This record gives sequence, structure tokens and C-alpha cells, in this order.
Amino acid sequence: MNNSWNRIIYKLWAPLYDRVFNSGAFAGARKKALSDLDLKPGQQVLLVGAGTGADLPLISGRSLSVTAIDLSPAMLAEARSKVKEGEKITFLEMDAQDLRFGDETFDVVIANLILSVVPDAERCMQEIVRVTSHGGKIVIFDKFASNGRVSPVMKVLRPLISVLGTDIGRDFNLLFLPYKEQLSIKEESPLLMRGMYRKIVLEKN
Ligand SMILES: C[S@@+](CC[C@H](N)C(=O)[O-])C[C@H]1O[C@@H](n2cnc3c(N)ncnc32)[C@H](O)[C@@H]1O
Repeated sequence: MNNSWNRIIYKLWAPLYDRVFNSGAFAGARKKALSDLDLKPGQQVLLVGAGTGADLPLISGRSLSVTAIDLSPAMLAEARSKVKEGEKITFLEMDAQDLRFGDETFDVVIANLILSVVPDAERCMQEIVRVTSHGGKIVIFDKFASNGRVSPVMKVLRPLISVLGTDIGRDFNLLFLPYKEQLSIKEESPLLMRGMYRKIVLEKN
């Protein structure tokens, strides 16, 4: 997986994406992931790899300061079309592995379906943690290999699925390990496909 391919594949996904990943079971799981976020007016919120903005309606109307970044102009264009009148959202074309924000800029970072997509998930995680304020939250709805185990079937499917722009074999425990002193896991719960898709809420100490 690399950024050039991601730009191409997500340009192709852009017109179809909401029909697959923002409907049915996915829409329900996404809703659960963001349901109890307790967002407060004035908070700085970052959507990392915002995609078509499927998360936007779930956090709207709370006088937040929302920034949404994505590598793909096509996905960002879809996201822009979801903004309601009077809402102020800053959209930026940016690499999630190299966030152009200062340390501890955001109270809440929403990183849905992005750690499984970026070429370098460790680097992306490092950036997410860096830009989160102390006491801030990181919310992740994503798929990870269960306990880091990649079954024989997944081993075969993994390279095929990665052509579609996502990796089904990443291990969240490995991503979390360098931050175990810096982050607390507030919630980790299964959402879809026998827990492959999970909700993870982290707090930066
Ligand atoms: C599976 S979609 C998830 C979109 C959205 N977060 C959601 O939950 O629906 C992955 C998104 O990551 C974006 N992306 C891929 N590589 C990226 C990178 N290096 N930096 C930022 N965004 C990236 C893609 O353009 C795409 O919009």
C-alpha cells in the first residue's frame, strides 16, 4: 500500500463509498463508535482520513471546531457536500502520516478506518498521539487482526484486499505498545464481524 495507489483507489471509491461503508451494518457500527463521545462546544476535533465525511452528521450541531483531513481530493469533495448550512468545517488535503498541526492541538481525534489504510500505521498512530491534547480522546473504529493472529484464509485474502485500499491484518496491540504509558484504553469493544471491527477509545494522560 502506498499513497499514490490510495489516491487512485479512493478516487474510484468516492462515488460508491457511502453506499457500502455508510449504510446498513457499517452505519450502525459507526453510530455506536461515536455515540457516547460527550463532545463539548468549542472543542477542537480532528477527523483523520475523513473520507466522504460519513462521521460528520454524527458530530454536527454542537458548536465544535472541526478539521477534516484526507489524502484524496475526491473523497474530500464528497465530505464537503455533507456540510450543513451554518456549519464551519475546515477541509484539508493532507497525509495522515505527516499531520501539519502543532503538538496537542486537538481535544478529540477521530480516526475511523484509517489505521488500516495508511501505508505506515505506526507513523500515523504517532502523529495522532502527537496532535492530541493531554486529557484528550482518540476514537478509533477500525478492523484489526484478532489478537494479532492472521488466519490462513486471511493470509491469502490480505494482499488481494489491500489492492482495494485496506489491510485486514494489522495488529492494534503493536500500534498501542509504544504509548502504553502515555495513553489509557477507556474502551475496547467489538462492533462487527466477530470483533474484527472494533471501537477503541483512548485518553492521553
Ligand atoms: C476506508 S476510508 C475511511 C474514511 C472515513 N474515515 C470513514 O470512516 O468512512 C480511508 C480514507 O483514508 C484516506 N487515506 C488513504 N491514505 C491516506 C493518507 N496517507 N493520509 C490521509 N488519508 C488517507 C482515503 O482517501 C480514504 O478517504
